This record gives sequence, structure tokens and C-alpha cells, in this order.
Amino acid sequence: MIADIPDSLRDSGAIEVREKLGTISGGDVLDVGTDDGDFIKVLMKTLKDYKSFTGIDISEESLTRARKRLNDGPVNFIVMNAETMTFLENQFDTVCASYSIHHLENIEAVLSEMYRVLKPDGSFIIQEMYSDGEQTTAQQVDMLVHHLDVKVDSLLGIPHFKTLTRRRLRSLVGKLGLSEVEFMESSWSVKCLFCSDAHYCTNPTRADHIDSVLKQIDKVLTRIFGHPSYDEIREEAESLKDRVKTDGSSEASVMYIFGKKK
Ligand SMILES: C[S@@+](CC[C@H](N)C(=O)[O-])C[C@H]1O[C@@H](n2cnc3c(N)ncnc32)[C@H](O)[C@@H]1O
Repeated sequence: MIADIPDSLRDSGAIEVREKLGTISGGDVLDVGTDDGDFIKVLMKTLKDYKSFTGIDISEESLTRARKRLNDGPVNFIVMNAETMTFLENQFDTVCASYSIHHLENIEAVLSEMYRVLKPDGSFIIQEMYSDGEQTTAQQVDMLVHHLDVKVDSLLGIPHFKTLTRRRLRSLVGKLGLSEVEFMESSWSVKCLFCSDAHYCTNPTRADHIDSVLKQIDKVLTRIFGHPSYDEIREEAESLKDRVKTDGSSEASVMYIFGKKK
């Protein structure tokens, strides 16, 4: 962890989340919707201990990137649809999903698969952005940029949905019947505790950040070029760019859900 962190990160709730993760012996960990392996990296730094990681994702391309980033250590990557996992019942000591929930076509099927493959008394961990609450103007802009990406993905037939409210997240996980359930919130992600650029991120209107968000919006537009809805999306993108230039952007707040299988 970086010793000198900004006050807003210190007060965000991220330290408490790291402390909670530090109480969990991971054992054999399953990460659902691994993408390029970011959360596995965070868990390696924060869990009390662990034996192995298995990262699954429906996208081969994502796991190719993950293999490049995490090329040593006890990590195994498998292309798999999380709605129909091929793992045994009670196979893992810990199951987790980070920023994946709003990418799932059938959230309930995936959560119930995560529960099935988790051992009794095993740990269940979710990290997910949420859409409600008192988010800053810059965080609201980040959400709008995300929603533009969601719109374009949806037009292209890629499952991607608006982020959920905290109430909806609580309700979905509540149906699993976990024990020792704990909900935590943080306005910064726990990974920021390990990032040397954290001070830099306290200013949502820094020029190079605005520039990179504008480029991100252009990249989203490129993906839809030639589509019948292109003009409509471009108009939305241009007005969003104006908001980015005025208000900047900051990552949306995150909810963490911890529980145990009964
Ligand atoms: C935003 S990324 C997750 C990011 C990553 N977990 C992290 O913390 O940085 C969401 C991932 O979920 C994957 N995904 C979507 N639907 C899936 C499914 N049914 N089964 C497995 N992975 C899925 C996507 O391919 C994508 O890589």
C-alpha cells in the first residue's frame, strides 16, 4: 500500500475494505468475469493468504490479456460462460466478481452458479459500481460516459447494462441466503490504495485526464461508425464531451458485498 495517500482516498472507505479483505483466507479462489485480471491482482495484495486463482471469462480476448499480465503465480484462466459453469459443487473456497454484474445478461443465474461452486463456509465477494447515492458531478459524468458505452454495446449486440442501484444489488445477493453478509461502500476503489497516481486523481478536471476521457468517447463512437444510429449517438457524444470539459470525470463509487455460504 502507498504510504502517502490523499485525504479523500483515506476517508473513502477503501482502507476498511482492504482491512476486511485482509481477514479472508482465500484458498482456491474463483474470479468471475476476470477480463484482464485486475481484481485477481488486487486480491493477491489484499487477501490474508491464498492457494490458487481461477479466472473465468466469456471472452477469449480478455483472458489473453490476463495471461500476459499475470504470467507467474498460481493462476489458471478458462473461457467459460458463468451462467453454466463446468465446475463441481463446493469446489472453491472463495468466489468473487468485480465490475462484472452489469455485464451479465442473467445476473441471477450467475450468482446462483457462484453459490453452487462455493464450499460451505466459503467466502463470497462482490465489487461493483453503483448508480445512485451522493456521487459528485464528476462521478455523474463518468456514469454518463459508461452509459454511452452501454448504449453502443447494446446496439452492437454485446451484453452490457447500466450500473445497478445499491438496493438492487442488495436484493439480488440477498436471495442467495448467505450468512455473515456485510455491505461496504467506497467512493474510491480498493485498488487505488496501491496506485502511485492516486494524488493525481483527486483533480477530476486535470487536462490530460479530460483528454483521455474525450479520446475514450471518440473510441466508443468509432465502434458504431456506419450504424443506422450513428448520428444520434454522435450528437449525444458531442454534448457529453462538453460536460467532460466542464466538470471532468471521476470513477463512480463502489459497493462491496461480503458473505459466507451456509
Ligand atoms: C468490466 S469486465 C470485469 C473487470 C474485471 N473483473 C476487473 O475487476 O477489472 C466484465 C467482464 O465480464 C465478462 N462477461 C460478461 N458476461 C459473462 C458471462 N456470461 N460469463 C463470463 N464472463 C462474462 C466480459 O467478457 C468482461 O470481460
